[in-house]
Amino acid sequence: MDKDLLTLSQLSRQELLEVLKLAEELKHNPSGYENKLKGRTLLMIFEKPSLRTRVSFEVGMTQLGGHAIYFNTATSPMGEKESIADTAKTASRYVDIITARLYSHEHLEELARNASVPVINALTNFSHPCQVLADLLTIREKKGKLSELKLAYLGDGNNNVTHSLLFGCSIMGINIFIGCPKSKEFMPDARVVNWAIEAAKKTKTRVVVSHNPIEAVKDADVVYTDSWMSYHIPKTKQEARVKMLRPYQVNTELIAHAKPDAIFMHCLPAMRGMEQTAEVIDGKQSVVFDQAENRLHTQKALMLKLLKLE
Ligand code: CP
Ligand code: NVA
Repeated sequence: MDKDLLTLSQLSRQELLEVLKLAEELKHNPSGYENKLKGRTLLMIFEKPSLRTRVSFEVGMTQLGGHAIYFNTATSPMGEKESIADTAKTASRYVDIITARLYSHEHLEELARNASVPVINALTNFSHPCQVLADLLTIREKKGKLSELKLAYLGDGNNNVTHSLLFGCSIMGINIFIGCPKSKEFMPDARVVNWAIEAAKKTKTRVVVSHNPIEAVKDADVVYTDSWMSYHIPKTKQEARVKMLRPYQVNTELIAHAKPDAIFMHCLPAMRGMEQTAEVIDGKQSVVFDQAENRLHTQKALMLKLLKLE
């Protein structure tokens, strides 16, 4: 495994499976892991808001016997009075591992390059690998496998979670269909799509970007959506975006085109009446809180792997 986890494309299929295996072990047999990170500290740098990521990382450290420090860039010198490089070099003298939620992926790369300790991406505008580790565990728990499945992602395709799903599904061999408007603003980054198409050749699976929501969702085993207003998108864009994205809203009519036993997924936070209706997210097919729980188990596994302390 590399020193850092900045995008899922850094992990091989084997490494990914090993993280999921350890996560399952931590979830079902946590005893024996209580002191694994005793005396170790995680620094959590946040430039954007968070519920799940912040709390699950902090709780994860507590459960492993370590300690976590929440470091909000709004009340720190980073970026204004102090360079990212100096922040990384200084923090590496104190802590054992860093997680950072930044706007710019390039800034995260700069942080990781200058840190001597492992750096985990806690979300950038470009990708959200920790989310998709939890999602893969959830899919395997619900479907019993990570192959011969179709995942349909509907809505804003130019999105960190979409990019990480493209990486994760193509590595694992899950067919992935993105249903999004035909415009650069909403389509996934072409470099990610091309990477996924290449990776999917090895697993003989499909990577499709469609602009027809019904085609995307047809016979899917997993229907996934994410916010139309990601943290980095200004409020002024809301009205125009809602107009463009409305046909991709996951509602009972659209999800009826998926398999009858399809599961509904969302990384959260979600807005009912926007990217999905309340009926769907609060309905029987929804597994969104299992996903949220699995953030905890997969991140604990990831920290142990990166620190080589499993
Ligand atoms: N899914 C997720 O990362 O949620 P938060 O923004 O609450 O951390
Ligand atoms: N795409 C969303 C994910 C939130 C966890 C965002 O960036 O806000």
